[in-house]
Amino acid sequence: MDQPLRTYGRIKSRALKPRQARLMDQLLPSLAAPTTPFDPRELKPDAAEVWLEAGFGAGEHLTTQAARRPDTLFLGAEPFVNGLGACLAHIDDAKLQNVRLHAGDVRSLTPLLPNACIDRFYILFPDPWPKVRHKKRRLIQPDFIAEAARLLKPGALLRFATDWADYADWTLERFLAAPAFRWTAERANDWRRPWADHVTTRYEAKRLGDCAPIWLEFARV
Ligand SMILES: C[S@@+](CC[C@H](N)C(=O)[O-])C[C@H]1O[C@@H](n2cnc3c(N)ncnc32)[C@H](O)[C@@H]1O
Repeated sequence: MDQPLRTYGRIKSRALKPRQARLMDQLLPSLAAPTTPFDPRELKPDAAEVWLEAGFGAGEHLTTQAARRPDTLFLGAEPFVNGLGACLAHIDDAKLQNVRLHAGDVRSLTPLLPNACIDRFYILFPDPWPKVRHKKRRLIQPDFIAEAARLLKPGALLRFATDWADYADWTLERFLAAPAFRWTAERANDWRRPWADHVTTRYEAKRLGDCAPIWLEFARV
């Protein structure tokens, strides 16, 4: 199979802080997601739910949600090493026992997972790739939506946020064309306001896009 186009930018910026480098060596191996097919429920047999976050950045959202919901298993995928280091520091600070990380592309994690094993899927402020010639690098593509549909349980939610108007339109158009998903919005405030339990992310706070954040929630039918 052809390698999918790269959807992320750099995988490393500055050198990791000493603590983060130590956590990469000592903590990451113990909470790395398996690299062969697995059922996430085996990682935490008492888990009430399994949530997945693609591109968690520095992990503020992932780890805050994990601290709030110790009975849920959180899977996160992120190829950016400095983000992983920051996320590991949050996990270590909060002594979280319910997070497993995939240090790479979410599209190399999802094929390892069985059908209908995920209760919630987050994609928060993905790389926007605003230039026309780069749009094919956006994570939201029909193949990715089909894979999300395969993973999500009936009724499970996929939440997407962006502050690029054109990426919101792009995403909405593609999900509305996917019979496996239903857009849950009933009124404008449903996409203009963050979800009640939202945790502000680092990228969101930077306000680098061309509009206020747009919050799209889709239910697996
Ligand atoms: C703009 S940043 C936003 C990070 C974080 N969600 C936030 O809101 O602060 C997008 C992140 O998605 C990651 N990313 C891009 N493509 C990805 C992929 N295919 N799998 C996993 N992560 C990806 C990038 O490395 C980057 O850290």
